[in-house]
Amino acid sequence: MADRTITLRLDGTDGPPPDRTYAIHVGRGTLAETGKVLAATGCQRAVVLADAAVVTPHATAVMTSLTQAGLATDLLTVPSGEASKSLTEAGRLWEALAQLGIDRQTSLVAVGGGVIGDLGGFLAAGFARGIPCWQVPTTLVAQVDSAIGGKTGINLAAGKNLVGAFWQPQGVIADIDTLATLPTREFTSGLAEVVKYGMILDAEFFAWLEANTAAIVAREPAAIEHLVQRSAELKAFVVERDERELTGLRACLNYGHTFAHAFETATGYGTLLHGEAVSLGMVAAAQLAATLGRITAETVTRQHTLLEHLGLPVTTNTLAAVADDTLLAIMGRDKKTEHGQLRFVLPDCIGHVELVEGIDPAAVTAAIVGVRST
Ligand SMILES: NC(=O)c1ccc[n+]([C@@H]2O[C@H](COP(=O)([O-])OP(=O)(O)OC[C@H]3O[C@@H](n4cnc5c(N)ncnc54)[C@H](O)[C@@H]3O)[C@@H](O)[C@H]2O)c1
Ligand SMILES: [Zn+2]
Repeated sequence: MADRTITLRLDGTDGPPPDRTYAIHVGRGTLAETGKVLAATGCQRAVVLADAAVVTPHATAVMTSLTQAGLATDLLTVPSGEASKSLTEAGRLWEALAQLGIDRQTSLVAVGGGVIGDLGGFLAAGFARGIPCWQVPTTLVAQVDSAIGGKTGINLAAGKNLVGAFWQPQGVIADIDTLATLPTREFTSGLAEVVKYGMILDAEFFAWLEANTAAIVAREPAAIEHLVQRSAELKAFVVERDERELTGLRACLNYGHTFAHAFETATGYGTLLHGEAVSLGMVAAAQLAATLGRITAETVTRQHTLLEHLGLPVTTNTLAAVADDTLLAIMGRDKKTEHGQLRFVLPDCIGHVELVEGIDPAAVTAAIVGVRST
C-alpha cells in the first residue's frame, strides 16, 4: 500500500488484554485498500457504519473494496451531526446489528468523522461484549485525533461523552483524499488540533506548519499527507505511553481545552466548532502562560500568527454576552479540575507543556480578555 504505516503499540504493560497493537494507515487512495487490510486479518464479514453524508462516495468505496476482497458486507447509516451520539441512536443500531445476526467475528467499520468514530467504537465495545472495530476517518479532526487512541462514547443530556468505553480499533485507515469533499470550515477547524500537537510535543513540526501555511490552506495533498501522518504519529506516541490518562501524559492533549470547553458550553454547543473553540482556548492558554512568566511574548505571537494564517479564529464576539464568572464557574466543573483548584496545561516553550495547578482566577480572567471582540 502506498502509504505510511504507523504502529501504535499497546503490548500489555498498561493492562489487559495483552496485545492491542494496531496499524494506522495514512495515505492517498487507502480507502480502496480497506478490503485487503481486513481480509489479511482473517476477517470474513463486516458491517459498515457510515455518516449519511459520506455514503456517496466514501462509504460506497469502502463497501466495494470489502466486497472485492471477498467479505460479506452490510451497510448501516447514521444521520450526520452530534445528535447521533445518543442513547436512542445507539439502541437503534444495536438492534440493527442483532437483526443482521452478526457475531463476534464480524467487524464494524466506522466511516465518517469523530461522531461516527465515537459512536461506532462504542457500539462495537458493547455489542456481544465486544466486536472488532475499524476506524475509517473522513474528517481532519478524526484523522489526526478522534480515530486514534480508543476513546469512544456517546452524549447524555447531562453532558458530552458521559457514557463510553476505551475500545482500541483493530486498525485505522485514513485516506487523505476523502478530505477533498470536506467543507472549508470543518477542515480549518481540524487544523487547531494539529497546531496543538506542535505546541505540546514537537517544535520542529510547529516550524514546519509555519513554513507551509499556504500549501496547507490550499490543501495541497503532499502537505496534508505530511500533516496527518505527523499528527497521527504524535497522538499514537501519547496513547502508547498513557492509554487511560493515568500518568498525566495523555492530559497534555487537553492543551487549550479547558478554555475551549468553557467557550463551547457558554455559547451553546454548535455556535463554535470544537476546533474553533480550541484555537481560542490556545490563545487564552498562551496568554495565561505569559502572564505567569512561563513563556515569552514572542512565543505567544508565534502561536497567534500561525493560527491566524491557517484561518483559525483568535478573537470571537460569541462571548460578548458571557460574563467572566460564568466561564470560571464552567472551568471549575471541568473534568481536569481537582479539589476545586483550577488546573491548566500550559506551555513553557513551543513543543513542551506542563500541568499547572492552583492558578489565580484573576489571571484566568485576564487571559480571556484578549480573545473577546465586540
Ligand atoms: N474519541 C476521541 O478521542 C475524540 C477526539 C476529538 C473529538 N472527538 C469527537 O469527535 C466529534 C467531532 O468530530 P468531527 O469534527 O469529525 O465531526 P463530525 O463527525 O460531526 O463531522 C463533521 C461534519 O463533516 C461531515 N463529513 C464527514 N466527513 C466528510 C467528508 N469527507 N466530506 C464532507 N463532509 C464530511 C459530517 O457529516 C459532519 O457534518 C465530536 O463528537 C467529539 O466529541 C472524539
Ligand atoms: Zn479537541
